[in-house]
Amino acid sequence: MTIIDQLHRPFRDLRISVTDRCNFRCRYCMPAEIYGERYQFLPKSALLTFEEITRLARVMVGLGAVKIRLTGGEPLVRQQIEKLVAQLAALDGVQDIALTTNGYLLPEKAQILREAGLGRVTVSLDSLDNTVFRAMNGERADVEKVLAGLEAAAQAGFGPIKVNTVVQRGVNDHTLVDLARFCKARGYIARFIEFMDVGTLNGWRMDHVVPAKEIVQRIHAEMPLEPVEANYRGEVARRYRYQDGQGEIGVIASVTQPFCGSCTRLRLSPEGSLYTCLFAAQGTDLRQPLREGASDEALAEIVRGIWQARADRYSELRTSMTGPREKVEMYHIGG
Ligand code: GTP
Ligand code: 5AD
Ligand code: SF4
Ligand code: SF4
Repeated sequence: MTIIDQLHRPFRDLRISVTDRCNFRCRYCMPAEIYGERYQFLPKSALLTFEEITRLARVMVGLGAVKIRLTGGEPLVRQQIEKLVAQLAALDGVQDIALTTNGYLLPEKAQILREAGLGRVTVSLDSLDNTVFRAMNGERADVEKVLAGLEAAAQAGFGPIKVNTVVQRGVNDHTLVDLARFCKARGYIARFIEFMDVGTLNGWRMDHVVPAKEIVQRIHAEMPLEPVEANYRGEVARRYRYQDGQGEIGVIASVTQPFCGSCTRLRLSPEGSLYTCLFAAQGTDLRQPLREGASDEALAEIVRGIWQARADRYSELRTSMTGPREKVEMYHIGG
């Protein structure tokens, strides 16, 4: 079944945030001075159980979801996440299950996740320069640790490994080409993300954004690139391959070249709210109906209603909106 929203976009991808916790404190996501020792994360009883997540996922696969991505917070800090992976992998109709992680726990988890049926992993890594990286992650981890995670993922035999880098002018943009070179040599797909104004805490300013066009030019100047067609309609990253035939990169230009027109995503938060946009102010609670015994059909009806009413296109409207605005935080609904 296909459901269509107000802007004629079909529902295709479900992004599931499994926890609001993280073992890093990236400045652009969970600044340490706010998310300190005393910050109250969601209590365990508020989190959807794996059975509840799987039930909602089954309903949403029935409505057209073919891709599932697990995010957080940091998804690998949720205990026994591999059990959820196995339950989701067993759903009929799911073509792709991927996970976005900061990589810290991959040395322990990569093999177990692969065996549970995870198809792909994307590892966030903002710089190979340890000083820059530590400053960006709130002094929580050395580059070496993430590199060990990447190595473990490669060993476990996942599909093409992607490396996500958020680019901030004056912070890590001078280390971009190094990262591209590193990924090229190892067969990872480097993906450079324009710094976005997600959430309300990261002090976003337009002059901190390095436009994707400039990112491509800087890499192209050292290792010539050429554009390639998207893998599928609505792919978030624009692809470029190296002219020497060895590898490719992606740029995610959500600020300078928004892609709302082909956005097929729904996001489920750890406590069971459904968000129709990364920049939404509010979600719709599914946990209450779920826990009060709603049938699959009743849950499907709620989700169908949410999708059919959807008209979000925040990134396309960003520049025409002024003043402060309520938004959900990124770590809460994943990237
Ligand atoms: P593939 O399935 O491998 O194509 O990955 P993906 O590009 O869908 O997933 P990933 O989670 O790696 O996305 C990379 C980054 O793009 C995210 O971390 C976000 O920063 C950004 N992004 C993903 N989806 C959206 C979206 O719907 N809107 C906006 N504005 N940014 C998004
Ligand atoms: N802008 C762009 N990307 C971001 N991410 C987190 N916050 C932002 C932001 N403000 C990225 C992370 C990770 C993914 C889940 O989202 O680096 O790769
Ligand atoms: Fe954690 Fe990812 Fe947010 Fe960094 S960007 S604090 S790794 S959830
Ligand atoms: Fe989709 Fe909202 Fe991102 Fe636009 S800003 S691509 S509608 S999630």
